[in-house]
Amino acid sequence: MKLTVLYHSETGNTEDVAGIIAEGANEVDNIEARTMGIEDIDDEFIEESKAVIFGTPTYLANFSWQTKKWFDTEMNYDLSGKLGAVFATENYLGGGADMALLTMIGHMLVKGMVIYSGGASDGKPYTHYGAVCIKDGNEEQQERAEIFGKRIANKAVELFV
Ligand SMILES: Cc1cc2nc3c(=O)[nH]c(=O)nc-3n(C[C@H](O)[C@H](O)[C@H](O)COP(=O)(O)O)c2cc1C
Repeated sequence: MKLTVLYHSETGNTEDVAGIIAEGANEVDNIEARTMGIEDIDDEFIEESKAVIFGTPTYLANFSWQTKKWFDTEMNYDLSGKLGAVFATENYLGGGADMALLTMIGHMLVKGMVIYSGGASDGKPYTHYGAVCIKDGNEEQQERAEIFGKRIANKAVELFV
């Protein structure tokens, strides 16, 4: 089953975290996870994906304007019924990543996605809205990102296989 980790990244942090999340997802049987930047999308792969994880840098305590522009002008894929999840990077704790995640989730709901947080109910590490890393994350944050990818992939398998 295909799973896309789609991100915007200017200076590489969000791209790095996308790679870690995809690694976690690829640990799950039956999952083929791939990362792609919003400027370089494999149309066929995203259309065939049962799950799409979106990642953004935090800009002024929200998601990046490039991500917003992409949703408004280029998001021509049918995402309805696909599993959706989110992650963000920020420069400092309390930098607004939660709002970036919630705004992205709002857009994904509009597109008909089935949203999954990675789950506080799955125990530690708790994930409330999605994965967050300070820049590209310290060791603990990167481990959480990997577990997050694995959980989203497991949920996709549970729902769609
Ligand atoms: C225009 C702009 C606004 C930013 N605003 C915030 C912010 O509000 N809070 C924060 O923690 N980091 C902020 N940052 C830092 C980025 O979110 C952070 O460096 C991020 O990891 C960059 O991701 P990238 O390397 O994938 O581009 C901002 C960066 C830019 C360029």
